[in-house]
Amino acid sequence: MKGRRREPDTLRTSTFLVRYSIFSCLLAVLVGCAAEEPPFRLNTEGPALEEISAAQSELIESLMGRIFGTPDEPAVPDSEVRRPEVEAGLRVDRLQSATGLYRQHCAACHGISGDGSGPTAAVQYPYPRDLRRGLYKYTSTDRGMKPFLGDGRQMGDLERIVRNGIPATAMPRFDRLADAQIDALVEYVRYLSIRGETEAWLLQEVVVGDELSIRRSMVLEDAVEPTASLWAIAQEMVLPAAAAEQHAPLSDTSEALAASIERGYEHYSGKNAQCKLCHGLEGRGDGEQTELYDEWNRPKKGATPEQTARLAGRFLLPIQELRPRDFTEGIFRGGDRPIDLYWRVYVGIKGTPMPSTGSDGALTPEQIWDVVNYIRSRSDGGP
Ligand code: HEC
Ligand code: HEC
Repeated sequence: MKGRRREPDTLRTSTFLVRYSIFSCLLAVLVGCAAEEPPFRLNTEGPALEEISAAQSELIESLMGRIFGTPDEPAVPDSEVRRPEVEAGLRVDRLQSATGLYRQHCAACHGISGDGSGPTAAVQYPYPRDLRRGLYKYTSTDRGMKPFLGDGRQMGDLERIVRNGIPATAMPRFDRLADAQIDALVEYVRYLSIRGETEAWLLQEVVVGDELSIRRSMVLEDAVEPTASLWAIAQEMVLPAAAAEQHAPLSDTSEALAASIERGYEHYSGKNAQCKLCHGLEGRGDGEQTELYDEWNRPKKGATPEQTARLAGRFLLPIQELRPRDFTEGIFRGGDRPIDLYWRVYVGIKGTPMPSTGSDGALTPEQIWDVVNYIRSRSDGGP
């Protein structure tokens, strides 16, 4: 009975919806379809920015608008180092889709401003990346460096992520997009990052430093240019696949491979690398070290649960803990080719407690290849 009585209700609701949408379409035509332009959202996250005055936010928003434009008309600052590429990227992004490729494919998760809190972000684990930090987890460049952008011989790190997605997370693969569209999206990500880091610098100067006399030229010189040159420097700091592979133990006989895996386990559990502290005795991600957070979540953590709850209130998304990978699942987010795993162990995972072992010499390249063989041997039983 109940079910039958509900039917007319549903019907009435949908008739109302149809009428309502016709009405709102008409209204939109009458007012010139003036759908409001989505603005970039000012980054007010973080403990230091509790009190931001109207004058301060006005100054920041006006400088940011003059340098970087709006989501509908993004602009590249004159001083940006690889300006032609970024500019071309923004142009393709705008031309190939009515709203821009980024808004079409990425903003639902990463947000219009690249803040990692688009409308669907809150239910994801892990959260979509907050691109404003300019910090990327899965790179082939050395510790502390921006990602590699590719050079014709070797694919860039961001391109690989956009093409392949990140397995076991919500980040989809976009390998069916045209090459020019993928290039444009990578440049748009870079634009949002440089923009985000510039904004963070401005917030520090204007809000924390209470400096209200900042001019556009100062922002370009002290924030945009240094950030852009970090991208340029990183292009020389890639650990080339070819050079890394020269060290790869040629484990072509099963005996040599077994010996390499055994050595790998010794390094894995040894004092220098300490992998088992987090990943556990058998690589199941169950080591004794817990309470791990990445750089996006660490600032949300206080000493007591109450402090943590209070801090989390100042961020767009609540705190999320990080779990070390269980190798037996056989899913590697930064890619599962041997060279991907080599980069992960050599460089670490940027912005996470997963340390680098190559940059500080804890392990030699040969030893890292042994560890890679060990990891792969653990994941053979996985799906
Ligand atoms: C359905 C949600 C979703 C969509 C759509 C999405 N992403 Fe992501 N993206 C994620 C998640 C989740 C992560 C973080 C995964 C992690 O931390 O392991 C991520 C991470 C990233 C990263 C960081 C990679 C690194 O090394 O740190 C980049 C860059 C990125 N996405 C770009 C894009 C671009 C460009 C698009 C659109 C073409 C896009 N994403 C669309 C969810 C999404
Ligand atoms: C302090 C804790 C910690 C230590 C020590 C540590 N890891 Fe990790 N590792 C992590 C965390 C956390 C993640 C997951 C990061 C993420 O998802 O953002 C991870 C992820 C990984 C991954 C997955 C990469 C991918 O693409 O998904 C591999 C492989 C790995 N670690 C290997 C190692 C090896 C080998 C060592 C020792 C040389 C090591 N880890 C030491 C915490 C640690």
